[in-house]
Amino acid sequence: MAHHQHAAAAAAAPTAAPAVHVGEPRAGVPGPDTVLTLRDVCLDILTEDDPIPILRHLDLTVDKGQIQGLAGESGSGKTMTGLAIMGLEPPQARVTGEIWLGDENLAEMRGRALARVRGRRIGMVFQDPSTSLHPQLKVGHQLTDHARYHLHLTKSEARDRAVEMLERVGVPNPRDALDRYPHEFSGGQRQRIAIAIALMCKPELLIADEPTTALDVTVQAGVLHLIRDLVDTLGLAVLFITHDLGVMSAVADTVAVMRHGRIVERGHKRDIFVQPRHPYTKALLAALPGAKGGLTSREDLRHMDLTADPEIPDTVPGLDADGVPIPEADTEGKEARQ
Ligand SMILES: Nc1ncnc2c1ncn2[C@@H]1O[C@H](COP(=O)(O)OP(=O)(O)OP(=O)(O)O)[C@@H](O)[C@H]1O
Ligand SMILES: [Mg+2]
Repeated sequence: MAHHQHAAAAAAAPTAAPAVHVGEPRAGVPGPDTVLTLRDVCLDILTEDDPIPILRHLDLTVDKGQIQGLAGESGSGKTMTGLAIMGLEPPQARVTGEIWLGDENLAEMRGRALARVRGRRIGMVFQDPSTSLHPQLKVGHQLTDHARYHLHLTKSEARDRAVEMLERVGVPNPRDALDRYPHEFSGGQRQRIAIAIALMCKPELLIADEPTTALDVTVQAGVLHLIRDLVDTLGLAVLFITHDLGVMSAVADTVAVMRHGRIVERGHKRDIFVQPRHPYTKALLAALPGAKGGLTSREDLRHMDLTADPEIPDTVPGLDADGVPIPEADTEGKEARQ
């Protein structure tokens, strides 16, 4: 039965590349390098009364070698999207739609099959490295445990790979590091270790949920450069979640902007940041200090000063309670800021 299902799933997999113009990735349209495809993904929280809609009709793709950003204010559904992809949504959630990782529809997988895919083919990094690192286990154990389980490596093979990964993410003295505990490292190093753990099984997809938000800005820049470097050298596909548009503009290739569980705008970063179309995106950008008129070029983005404070407010002025934009002239209204 499992065989049959898999064959059916493979047959329905998004394969043929539609005629999209190369170099201008149109999110939501799978191509030959597409690693992740979401199609019409909805998530509702079931209650005794009506279900609460959390994610609405998400269409999104992430390609090999691409950092797809997911932006939006607090509560817009960014983390829930990552959790739904991983199959880690809360138990009372109902997910519908298709979540393709290559030719496997994760939305149809359950239990051990899903855990196997999740562990091997997707890595996840969270905001706070202490949620991914166990405080009482040596770093080496945490790196090798997962890989030994999923890849059936011997202890020494797993340790060798752990050293290689720690080297790769820039943790000094990797062989020594294996025998130390997380608290013996700085916050930035801990996040590098969490990234190394996520990479141990050489996943195709990395989901990074606010991976630098807990770090101070100079350390943040180092971790962002690392992620970029991993994408360029390993061909990793990354879904990069952040509410911070300064970080987003520095790291992402393509950006999807979420509001109230929907993707309201998406496209190449250049277009989103320079010529946003949706009023909500405009409002988000207007709230970004120093970027009032939008950013100007890819070079600007590359050299953007990550040590400047790029925080945006959690909520954005300029839209009324139903999400209907207030006319543009008012969206920069100072009275709406605290
Ligand atoms: N376990 C849960 N049960 C019910 N609702 C939840 C649960 N977790 C989150 N939600 C709701 O889902 C919505 C989306 O939350 P989510 O955590 O995805 O937001 P976010 O965009 O990641 O925000 P932030 O920038 O603050 O991290 C919110 O309305 C939130 O209240
Ligand atoms: Mg979140």
